Amino acid sequence: MNQDDTPLWHPDTIAVREGLPRSAYGEHSEAVFLTSSFVQPDAASAAARFAGEEEGFVYSRFSNPSNTAMERRLAAMEGTEAAISTASGMGALLLLMLGLLKAGDHVVCSQSVFGATIKLIAGEFGKFGVESSFVPQTDTAAWRAAIRPGKTRLLFAETPTNPLTEVCDIRALADLAHDADALLVVDNCFCSPALQRPVVLGADLIVHSGTKYLDGQGRVVAGAVCGSRDIIEGRLLPTQRTTGVTLSPFNAWVVHKGLETLGVRMQAHCARALQLAVWLEAQPGVAHVYYPGLSSHPQHALAMAQQSGLGGAVLSFAVTADGPERARARAFHVIDSTRLCSITANLGDTRTTITHPASTSHGRLREDQRAAAGIGQGLIRIAVGLEHPADIQADLARGLRHLP
Ligand SMILES: Cc1ncc(COP(=O)(O)O)c(C=O)c1O
Repeated sequence: MNQDDTPLWHPDTIAVREGLPRSAYGEHSEAVFLTSSFVQPDAASAAARFAGEEEGFVYSRFSNPSNTAMERRLAAMEGTEAAISTASGMGALLLLMLGLLKAGDHVVCSQSVFGATIKLIAGEFGKFGVESSFVPQTDTAAWRAAIRPGKTRLLFAETPTNPLTEVCDIRALADLAHDADALLVVDNCFCSPALQRPVVLGADLIVHSGTKYLDGQGRVVAGAVCGSRDIIEGRLLPTQRTTGVTLSPFNAWVVHKGLETLGVRMQAHCARALQLAVWLEAQPGVAHVYYPGLSSHPQHALAMAQQSGLGGAVLSFAVTADGPERARARAFHVIDSTRLCSITANLGDTRTTITHPASTSHGRLREDQRAAAGIGQGLIRIAVGLEHPADIQADLARGLRHLP
C-alpha cells in the first residue's frame, strides 16, 4: 500500500496511469505542451524556480510537462526513482557520460554493444582522457579482470545484444561493479521494462533508445536515462541544462503514449519471434538461429530468468553456405525475396524489419573483425513486428525455398 492507502500499482496499470495530474481543462488523454518557455507568476517565483529552489516549469531545454510525464511513467515502469528524457538513445549515453565521468576515469564495456556506443566511449570520450576496456559479453571473469580499482567508474552492458542476442548476467555484473565502487549501466533497449527491469537485478542506471519499443511504432527518435534521484536530478539534469541534449515535448508525448501499450505489444512481439525462431531452426537452408527464447541458445536459462520468461523480439539466423561470397549472395537473396518485411536497420516497430548486419550495421568493420564478432556474411537479422506470424514466415520462406 502507498501512504494514502491506494494499492501499489501493477506495472500494466503504471504504464497507462502514471504521469502528471490533468491540467485545468480535465483532458483525458494527456495534452502536448509545445512551448519553449513558461510564464512565471512573479519575479520572486521566477528567481526561485531558476535556482531550482521551487518546483515549476521554466524553459523547455530542461523542463516541460510532456517530458516530465513521460519520465515519471518510464521511471515507474523501470522501478527507478527518476528518469530524464533525451533527444535520442545516443543522447542518453552522452548525457550520462558527460554527467558522471572526467579525464582519467575508466569504463569497462561489453565488446558486443551497439557500434555507436563503442565509438562514443572509446572515440569521443577517449579524446578527452576517459579510458576504456572492451570485454566479451558473457565472460564475467573478463569483466572482473578489466576493472581498475580506484579508476573504473562505470561498467556498461547491453543485453541481449544486437544481432547475436548474447545475454550477460546483470546481477553478477552489478556485484562486480559495486565491489569496485563503480556503477552498472544497462542499455535496456531490446527488452524494455516490460520484460526486464535491470535495477531489480542490481543495476544502477538504465539507458534507453526510446526510438525502439518505447515508441514502438517507428515514429520518433528519443532516449532516456533512469536511475536514482541523486544521479538523475543532482548530476544529469544540470548537465542537460548546460548541454541541451533535450527531447522535444512532442516526441516525449509520443513515447509517453507508446508506453501505454508496451506490455501488450512486447508479449505479442515475443510470441511471434519465438514461433518464427522455432520454424527457422527447422529449415534446411538455415545453419543457425540466434534467439534467447530457444533452448539451443547458450544463455537460454539466464535469459528466461532475467527477461520474464520471454526471448525478446529480435532474432538472427545464418543461411547455409560454403564460403563468404556464397553466404552473402544467399543472404541477399532471402532479403530481396521478401515483400512484407521492411529492409531497414531500425527495430522495435510494429512492422517486421530485416537487415544484413555484415554490410550495414557492421559494414565498417574489417572481415577479420567481423569474423571475431561472429557476424558472418550469411547472417540475417529480423526484428519481428506485429504482422500475423504466418505472413512473416511465408515472406521468409519465399527466399529460403530456392537458395542460389
Ligand atoms: C541497443 C541500442 N542502444 C542505443 C541505440 C541508439 O539509439 P538512438 O538511435 O535512439 O540514438 C540503438 C540504436 O539502434 C541501439 O540499438
